[in-house]
Amino acid sequence: MDKIGYVDICCGLNWGDEAKGKIVSYLSKVGDYSFVCRWSGGNNAGHTIYKNGIKYKTHLIPSGIFYDIPSIIGPDCVLNINSFFEEIDYLKNNGFNTNLIFISPKAHIVTEEHIKEDKQKLHKIQGTTAKGIAPCYKDKYGRIGKTVKDIPQLKSYLWDEKLYGNILCEGAQGFWLDINQGNYPYVTSSNCLPYAACSLGFPPQFIRHIYGATKIYDTRSGIDPLFPENLLENQDLLQLVKIGEEYGTTTGRMRKTNWLNLDKLVDAVKISGTTIILISKVDVIKKLNKYKLYHNSTIIDFEDFDSMKTYIDKTLKQNCPLLENITYSEKNELK
Ligand code: IMP
Ligand code: MG
Repeated sequence: MDKIGYVDICCGLNWGDEAKGKIVSYLSKVGDYSFVCRWSGGNNAGHTIYKNGIKYKTHLIPSGIFYDIPSIIGPDCVLNINSFFEEIDYLKNNGFNTNLIFISPKAHIVTEEHIKEDKQKLHKIQGTTAKGIAPCYKDKYGRIGKTVKDIPQLKSYLWDEKLYGNILCEGAQGFWLDINQGNYPYVTSSNCLPYAACSLGFPPQFIRHIYGATKIYDTRSGIDPLFPENLLENQDLLQLVKIGEEYGTTTGRMRKTNWLNLDKLVDAVKISGTTIILISKVDVIKKLNKYKLYHNSTIIDFEDFDSMKTYIDKTLKQNCPLLENITYSEKNELK
């Protein structure tokens, strides 16, 4: 059993917070995976999972752990040791088997200095999560970073770097937060696109499905000129924040919210290679009873959800040749 079968990947198509956790949780439950792996980022992420009606939150440890699947933190992730052990305690206290958690010896360590630098230099001007992410990756690429293999405390969690069976890769952040694709410098410091999952150590030819997660409206936590503060003065958009409970998992901040930008979504689907798109939180705009999106840089106002859906389907199908399936979901589905 040392052969890889196939690799499925779940990535965010927007600015994070697209309910990737819900998709990974669902796939872990119904799928047949030997591993669930994180390939990028650190505890700047926040993944919300529902299991048997109970809500759980993690930041670093892959969601496979909730389904007793060996869970790997990959070599291009960054690890805050305190936050890791807090999460281990949290999972243990909730009855999950933390012996299934493994960390790549090549992952980099986020130090107190990294966090201090982030807080002092970046948090205010870029709206970072202040978790030390950018300074840690800066040291990694400057080749002066400290890696997991040098930390005695983490010895029992070291991954042997072997992959086999079917693999599920869990994305963090999203397409427009990617260091290469996003609105630099209002990005994160990691590679959020699915191709980067290959950094775990498998060839791209094994990739089967790429699940792209998106919402029926856009949200942004953190600073980004594409999402000006005055969006929160629009009463309809403010309603979306409230109905959709758009507050950060990691920071608690209110997310700036806007109508779906279909131009950006088409690009994200095309470039990421998404084969299955899941558009969630449809119940939120139905509750507001307003159906708008941006396309070709102009706003389109639809009479009802069905006409908006027909328009999105047609546009995605016309522009994204690799896309095989489009699914819409309401809040309580996929749990
Ligand atoms: P950093 O990753 O903490 O450096 O933050 C850089 C940018 O990415 C900021 O705008 C953050 O708000 C955003 N960001 C980072 N992680 C997440 C996430 O998991 N969800 C949403 N936004 C995120
Ligand atoms: Mg999140």
